[in-house]
Amino acid sequence: MATANEVDAGRAIFETGVGVTARIMGMDLPGTGFACRRCHGLDGAGGREGATVMPAIGWDKLAAPVASRPAYTPELFRKALETGISPSGRALDAAMPRYRLDGAQADALMAYLMALPAIERRGIEADAVHLGVLSTPRSQALASAYAGALEQALAERIPAHGIFGRTVKVRPVGVAAGTDLKTAVERSPVVAMIGLAPADSGLIADLLGDGMPVLFPFFPLAGTEDRDLAHGLMADWPAVADAIALRIKADGRSDLILAAGDAGDGRLAALAAALTRAGVSYRLGDDLSVGMASTVLLLPRPGAADAWITRLRRDAVLYGMAEDFVALRVRLNGAGIRYRLAVQGTSVASMAATAQLGALEAHALMAADLLHGLLLSAGRDLRRATLLAGFRNLRRQAAPNLLLDYATHPGSGTAAVEFIVE
Ligand code: HEC
Repeated sequence: MATANEVDAGRAIFETGVGVTARIMGMDLPGTGFACRRCHGLDGAGGREGATVMPAIGWDKLAAPVASRPAYTPELFRKALETGISPSGRALDAAMPRYRLDGAQADALMAYLMALPAIERRGIEADAVHLGVLSTPRSQALASAYAGALEQALAERIPAHGIFGRTVKVRPVGVAAGTDLKTAVERSPVVAMIGLAPADSGLIADLLGDGMPVLFPFFPLAGTEDRDLAHGLMADWPAVADAIALRIKADGRSDLILAAGDAGDGRLAALAAALTRAGVSYRLGDDLSVGMASTVLLLPRPGAADAWITRLRRDAVLYGMAEDFVALRVRLNGAGIRYRLAVQGTSVASMAATAQLGALEAHALMAADLLHGLLLSAGRDLRRATLLAGFRNLRRQAAPNLLLDYATHPGSGTAAVEFIVE
């Protein structure tokens, strides 16, 4: 019986190629360029690319004898990976890399290939599809309100008899303080986590690392997430950073301080890079120096926006993210501080941060509409991979001014950024 750690180690090799070496035409290359999923697919179901046929490699398939070869055993599997010799004695096509890997790595890969069919069917039953809304002590209120709003929005779109016989169920997946996220997720089988709260943005990497799709979080994606597993509803962080930098440039502002409470999430680095790309010069500042410039681009530490505003010069123009400052507009107006706040695509993102029900409902309606499209295109044989494959040609007019088009913007569906200006 494979251990959970073994499955995780196998998943890492399968999805990222980490830790193994690929041999291509006699050359040793890092396995990270030759992860199995790149050719055999996230679900291991294989496919065709031009004249090359990539076979299905779920263990259920490999362990079954077929006309062209006997069944794989653990030994024959490792031999095929290392030497490219199939159980039939045939040399596999050169399109299939040869790998250097040790016995533990081969066993881990095998354990993952055994677990894969169950992972692909996680949260999917004959008559229902289960979605989760992650609920931590920080996000509990948002999560339960959102789960309710989403179920209602789905009920309005999906007929009572379901899509291909399946209705959609949404449940909060609770992670109590001190429990491990992975255990909580395993106890509550869902096909994807939907509507991740801003307070839980730090958990996205763990969820994706466990192969759990994350759909439509309430915050912009970093743009570096796994493109197959993560899909947002709003411009990703690099797009937002570019829009802010170009806006500062178009406004003709100089004497700029870029100050951040450093959430350590790469946002500061993305903004700095975007400013440089746009040819806007800036100084780096901190919460004490924000009062020393007439233009200030602020990424406050969560909850600290209030304190930082008090330090701004009265003649300052403030740039920032709407979700950080939208609740403080009255104070900004009162202090006479002008601002340009970036909103990704719709005001949904920013308003959601303040947990106004209207914004939750708007987000839920968009999400329900997209899920409806995904379930229709996935068809009867629903699995994790077929659900996610639907994003490749998903296009929806989500609001009068917002087209979500995942063919053009695979991660977020849009690069649209607007500004609230005062
Ligand atoms: C660059 C594309 C590519 C990558 C990356 C790749 N494969 Fe393959 N794989 C192929 C192709 C093409 C074949 C079919 C070769 C043939 O039949 O001659 C194949 C065949 C196989 C087979 C033989 C299946 C059978 O029915 O005999 C196994 C097993 C396999 N791959 C496992 C893996 C694993 C495990 C990884 C990652 C460690 C991996 N492959 C990475 C392209 C790839």
